[in-house]
Amino acid sequence: LKGLGLYDGKIVDLNKPAVLLEDRGYQFGDGVYDAWKVVDGKHFLRKEHLDRLERSCRLLDIKPCYSREEIEGFSDSLVEESGVNDGAMYLQWTRGWESPRSHVFNENLRPLLSGSIIPIPPLPLDAWTTGNKVITYPDQRHLFCHIKTLNLLGSIMAKNAAHRNDCEEALLVREHQGRSIVTECSSSNCFAVKDGVMYTAPLGNLILPGITRAAILGLAGQCEINVVEEYVSPEFFKEADEAFFTNAIAIRPIVMIDGRPVGSGNVGPVFQKLNAKYQKMMRGN
Ligand code: PDD
Repeated sequence: LKGLGLYDGKIVDLNKPAVLLEDRGYQFGDGVYDAWKVVDGKHFLRKEHLDRLERSCRLLDIKPCYSREEIEGFSDSLVEESGVNDGAMYLQWTRGWESPRSHVFNENLRPLLSGSIIPIPPLPLDAWTTGNKVITYPDQRHLFCHIKTLNLLGSIMAKNAAHRNDCEEALLVREHQGRSIVTECSSSNCFAVKDGVMYTAPLGNLILPGITRAAILGLAGQCEINVVEEYVSPEFFKEADEAFFTNAIAIRPIVMIDGRPVGSGNVGPVFQKLNAKYQKMMRGN
């Protein structure tokens, strides 16, 4: 099974060159994206992801040239024409093509939509729910973290440092109002659990408002788990009973931070409870 691309509203072969060299997305990272999971041929939480994509555009004055219905249609075509049943959908808007290259953008550029569907191997949906190790790493990103921009260098350096250390993710640590806080991970939101209470960073410009984060908060409500949306320190994470991170691809428990076990060092009961509900939700029941 192969992935399939979308470029300027047309379905294309993923491996054929398509990008215009002076597309601002290519030269400046001047654009936004979103990604969601296709489960059993169905788009999981597509509406929420497309809402966020629209919001990202609005915050950067990118004016989409396709309607919501057209964009849904493109993503449907990617699924249908690729035959991918379980995969990751990716869509991005760049501000468009402009020559010569200039930091100042023309207000009237036609933005460019591209994307892809990539098959995810047919693993069980809960394939990633055994332990994961993470490192702490400085959050060196810009202050547009609430916008899903193409500018990902801070995340990429963090994620690769994690992988070099045989870890799956990096807990990003930022100095904020005179203290050290965990914002999120390089490509996911993170949660700590202490004495039955779940902690996660509040919405604001230091984190991405994760669609999975919102879903998990909803499920926590159903399970009557108390949630506190406040910043906590990296030490708090290290001394927590449980920790986990979430994104559209998977929710995953953290069993080790910087080489030390979290809580018992096993997958904890709060994660297990939420994961059971989340797996059901993904399967549509
Ligand atoms: N990233 N925080 C960051 C920095 C992210 O990049 C992501 C997702 C999330 C989780 O958001 P959501 O639950 O809506 O996927 C949080 C995607 C998977 C990516 O960059 O491919």
